[in-house]
Amino acid sequence: MPGLLSSPVFLTVIWFLLSWSLGPSHAQIWTDEVSDVQYGRLGSNVTLECGKSEIGIPVEWRHNHSLVLPWHKVTSDGRLVLYHVDQSAQGNYSCYDNSGILRSISLRLGHPPGLLSISCQVPNHTHVRCSWRESVKTFLPAGFNASFRGKGQEWRPCIVDVTHRHCDVHHPAFWQTIHMLRVIETNALGSETTLAQLKLHELLKPDPPESVSAKEVEGFPKKLRVTWHYPSSWPQEIAFPLLFHIRYKPHGSKLWSEIFTEDNAVVVPDALAGHLHQVQVRARDEVDPESQWSEWTQLHLVRPWEEEPNPGPEENTESPDCNGFCIEPSASTKPTHAVNGDEGNLGLAILLVLFSIFILTTVLSLIFIVWMRQKRTEHATKQELASMVKMKSIPI
Ligand SMILES: *[C@@H]1O[C@H](CO)[C@@H](O)[C@H](O)[C@H]1NC(C)=O
Ligand SMILES: *[C@@H]1O[C@H](CO)[C@@H](O)[C@H](O)[C@H]1NC(C)=O
Ligand SMILES: *[C@@H]1O[C@H](CO)[C@@H](O)[C@H](O)[C@H]1NC(C)=O
Ligand SMILES: *[C@@H]1O[C@H](CO)[C@@H](O)[C@H](O)[C@H]1NC(C)=O
Ligand SMILES: *[C@@H]1O[C@H](CO)[C@@H](O)[C@H](O)[C@H]1NC(C)=O
Repeated sequence: MPGLLSSPVFLTVIWFLLSWSLGPSHAQIWTDEVSDVQYGRLGSNVTLECGKSEIGIPVEWRHNHSLVLPWHKVTSDGRLVLYHVDQSAQGNYSCYDNSGILRSISLRLGHPPGLLSISCQVPNHTHVRCSWRESVKTFLPAGFNASFRGKGQEWRPCIVDVTHRHCDVHHPAFWQTIHMLRVIETNALGSETTLAQLKLHELLKPDPPESVSAKEVEGFPKKLRVTWHYPSSWPQEIAFPLLFHIRYKPHGSKLWSEIFTEDNAVVVPDALAGHLHQVQVRARDEVDPESQWSEWTQLHLVRPWEEEPNPGPEENTESPDCNGFCIEPSASTKPTHAVNGDEGNLGLAILLVLFSIFILTTVLSLIFIVWMRQKRTEHATKQELASMVKMKSIPI
């Protein structure tokens, strides 16, 4: 029996050694197993070659190690034709004849690239960023090659970021009214070129202003002071001025009031006294009215100065005008600490008193106990003496 068991093993080893020594043709099959990738179009008929099979010798195909295959036919020369493939037809296909595995192919299915939808952002005069989305989902890895040019100029590269699917142009020729962007998407099934025409001056859209602050104006219950900075992506030069649009309204109101300015600060003259206000700022290139406004900054909330302000922590710091009569604030702020300190001292005093009472009582009770004991012993000796006297008086 062990002979029967060992002989197939022995044969396999022999076959393996033979195939190894016969040359690289068989060895290549093993290395190909990982690297052999075939791409196909979804919905099409895909043909997989078995490779080294000879006509007439039947072959067997497996899909993901299973004998169950999608709708297919195996030709007389061993090719596998898969009809009208869908996503589930992807995976690993292996072709066997009676000597073993002949070929292994990983099948990936998808679509060739379609046109892209492109949009560009121009946050200042020296930077263009264009991003794109696929109009056809390809399901396959793709590469992109993007170029950019002004009318009548040479193509120059738009530097691609593949993961984020965008590209950047630095220092475009801004004086030219029309530019072209060309993006070529390539995958295993083909490539597609998308062209987009851009008018940079119309796309110019600054980032929103930064460090916006809205504050009350002391002594003026109807004024608000709003300040901001240029967006950091906008050059701080006289040659590139920005126009700012400020809008404000009492909280809950629907109507905005607005102010336009080229400065970095503005005083709202007509706030509604005693009401919380919402304030926002946005910016646009001052020179080109065709360019776009930035997004609005976040809502800022501010209340104008009030004549009788609610006592808050701010007022306490500036109240030296109550000449020694600051009973309330002094009771509420500074002395809290002192009271705390007094309480601590009082506690200590009480503790000391209690302790001394304890010591005193202990000492007194000790004295009392000692005195009691002495009394008792005196009593005992007296009794002893008495009994001895009695014993002596008893006649023997
Ligand atoms: C297909 O083959 C590749 C490489 O040989 C392997 O990493 C993958 O797990 C296989 N997939 C299936 C479903 O067998
Ligand atoms: C796929 O093969 C079937 C059967 O031979 C045929 O009817 C069909 O037209 C083929 N489809 C394509 C897209 O070639
Ligand atoms: C085979 O494996 C691939 C992944 O490798 C999977 O996409 C496909 O659905 C699998 N198909 C079947 C029928 O198991
Ligand atoms: C992109 O295309 C241009 C010409 O169309 C070519 O010179 C360049 O090498 C390509 N770049 C990449 C990364 O494919
Ligand atoms: C223009 O914007 C880009 C992107 O935000 C930025 O990296 C660049 O520094 C800006 N250029 C200037 C001159 O501020």
